[in-house]
Amino acid sequence: MSIRFLSVFRRVAPTLLLACAPARAPRSAPVMPPLGQPTVAPLVIAHRGASGHRPEHTLEGYALAVQMGADFIEPDLVSTKDGVLVARHENEIGGTTDVAAKFASRKTRKVVDGDTISGWFTEDFTLAELRTLRAKERLPFRSHAYDGQYAVPTFVEVLALADSLGRRRGRAVGVYPETKHPTYFRSIGLPIEDPLLRALRTHGLDRADAPVFIQSFESGNLRVLSTQTRVRLIQLVSSAPQVTPAALRDIATYAYGVGANTRQIVGEDSAAVPTSLIADAHAAGLRVHAWTLRPEPVFLAKRYRGDPIAEVRELVRLGVDGLFGDYPDQVVTGLRK
Ligand code: G3P
Ligand code: CA
Repeated sequence: MSIRFLSVFRRVAPTLLLACAPARAPRSAPVMPPLGQPTVAPLVIAHRGASGHRPEHTLEGYALAVQMGADFIEPDLVSTKDGVLVARHENEIGGTTDVAAKFASRKTRKVVDGDTISGWFTEDFTLAELRTLRAKERLPFRSHAYDGQYAVPTFVEVLALADSLGRRRGRAVGVYPETKHPTYFRSIGLPIEDPLLRALRTHGLDRADAPVFIQSFESGNLRVLSTQTRVRLIQLVSSAPQVTPAALRDIATYAYGVGANTRQIVGEDSAAVPTSLIADAHAAGLRVHAWTLRPEPVFLAKRYRGDPIAEVRELVRLGVDGLFGDYPDQVVTGLRK
């Protein structure tokens, strides 16, 4: 048995073991309802994988999310120096990998989307260099038991994982890529959109009915993408002017739905009356996916009195079409109640 085989096997074995675990009972809703038809039940979207349980954006975290019942896994995408898309929440990777210990001298400072940031950036590393890194949990109050074990995956590897898990489990496993800092990456000659579309085409996923959503906080790249692909697009929104009825009607000219902060839906304080965002978006013909459900006290709105299931139930009552959660198992539990 060759050393290369052993090293590859060691890397993927935990994922394969997870993939072979018993599948949970199928959910009642199809992963992707046909265009023009309402969602039967909200989609469960594994935010950065099962990121409450494993370091975010790792194949192992995505596989665990699928085992827990997620319909979609969510890779945030940034580029390497050699133009390969990898799954990281931001291009600065000091907080989620061991890059500081392995490449101390490569620390630098740059301005990204108006913010001055010190650290290590994916666009300064080749894929071969990033392959030497291991992921770690970013939040101090979450488990660090898996730090140092898992690699930084490429987008192509995420697509291959979703495909193999879907075949194994007899259901589609959706992929929900987010273009991170798309204007910045285009400005340095490493556009996100081109390799994203290439990868989707290679995997036969550049179709309107593919189990794929492409999301972005920027609207410029989504407007262009709407002329280049039939894959459903999701406009991420985070401010009041973005969700007026008129603004939503404009979004509906190029996107399938909006990804909204939960606080934009239920209001900011404990006693707030839910907003009309979902009704207004539905009136404009848009679906609404809410981010991000997280049970820890620092994140969970006080209105739920420490009960994350109550948050799921309220958003369902309000008519949400999809839920991004760090703990997909909790979202699934909430949807069953
Ligand atoms: O993409 C939905 C949600 O993930 C947006 O927030 O910062 O976690 O990418 P972020
Ligand atoms: Ca995201």
